[in-house]
Amino acid sequence: MTSIEELTSILAQLIQEANSAFTQTESEPVLNQVKANYLGKKGKVTAQMKRIREVEPKERRAFGQAVNKAKIAVEKRLEQRKQEIRAERREKELQNTYQDLTLPAFSGDKGHLHPIRRIEEDMLQIFRGMGYAIAFGPQVETDFHNFEALNFPHDHPARDMQDTFVIKGDRKDVLRTHTSPVQIRTMLANKPPIRIAAPGPVFRCDTLDMTHSPCFHQVEGLVVDRGVTMSHLKGTLHEFAQRLFKQSVKIRLRPSFFPFTEPSVEVDVGCVFCKNGCRVCSHTGWIEILGAGMVDPNVLLAVGIDPEVFTGFAFGIGIERVAMLKYGIQDIRLFYENDQRFLARF
Ligand code: FA5
Repeated sequence: MTSIEELTSILAQLIQEANSAFTQTESEPVLNQVKANYLGKKGKVTAQMKRIREVEPKERRAFGQAVNKAKIAVEKRLEQRKQEIRAERREKELQNTYQDLTLPAFSGDKGHLHPIRRIEEDMLQIFRGMGYAIAFGPQVETDFHNFEALNFPHDHPARDMQDTFVIKGDRKDVLRTHTSPVQIRTMLANKPPIRIAAPGPVFRCDTLDMTHSPCFHQVEGLVVDRGVTMSHLKGTLHEFAQRLFKQSVKIRLRPSFFPFTEPSVEVDVGCVFCKNGCRVCSHTGWIEILGAGMVDPNVLLAVGIDPEVFTGFAFGIGIERVAMLKYGIQDIRLFYENDQRFLARF
């Protein structure tokens, strides 16, 4: 029989031996091999466990605990050495690598708003400054909001002014052809005085060319109150153009027709690309940016506002057209191609 004292002293020697073997090890792979010598299946500490049968039965429990303690002590030192080796390696790496602390920090490429969103934000900021609230409406609209309540009777030729994408189904919903349905939604939900600007995408079966796109963006404006006149509309649009282009730009109002305004106008801004006419302005020297007018009494009646008491004006601005003028872009298609060389200019 082996005495427990004898085995305990062997264990103490083993711990010491393992500690010094770990300390002499310089790398993690070698450390793992050395570990196997002590803690592996055939390792020296594991082998002591098997000697339990050599111990008196009444001392076996104490012996088992002693081997376990030894095993934990060896494992602890092993982990400690592993961390030391890692720290030594990192320290060496730092010493061998040249760090130029004077190099400027890498800032990375920052994203930014698309030019259309940016100009939309500029426009809304101007209207906010004039006391307008911002309103939104759905892009899939009912026939009622997009046409009917805006005084486009069924089968009326005026509906052909805006070639429409119709959603399949019994309801005949449409992709909104303009932001004017937000006028209807706002007037149905609020009593005058009303002063809103409503931005967003609109859709028409237009062929893509230099100045037209089948999906473009508008900002709608609507003011309804007592005593609102055409002069207010003209003054508002003139002031808007001066603030947006930050210089004195010429605007002109041409008589036009919209079923939901009477009288109606189209507003042009002097072409920034030429003096005597070019392809962008169709050789006229002017680029149309918006439609506008006094809210037709029929529209006020459709939303339950008394046209004898209240009057209003409304306008719908084409954001792409404004962006083209402001940034000097001759072709609307550039906005949709996502060419980084183009977008990086903004
Ligand atoms: C309208 O959409 C009316 N709802 C505007 C309006 C609102 C009138 C309120 C009266 C009162 P129009 O179809 O003209 O009108 O379009 C308005 C502006 O959108 C145009 O002046 C133009 O700047 C822009 N636009 C029209 N069609 C296109 C297109 N296919 N691509 C890019 N911009 C367009």
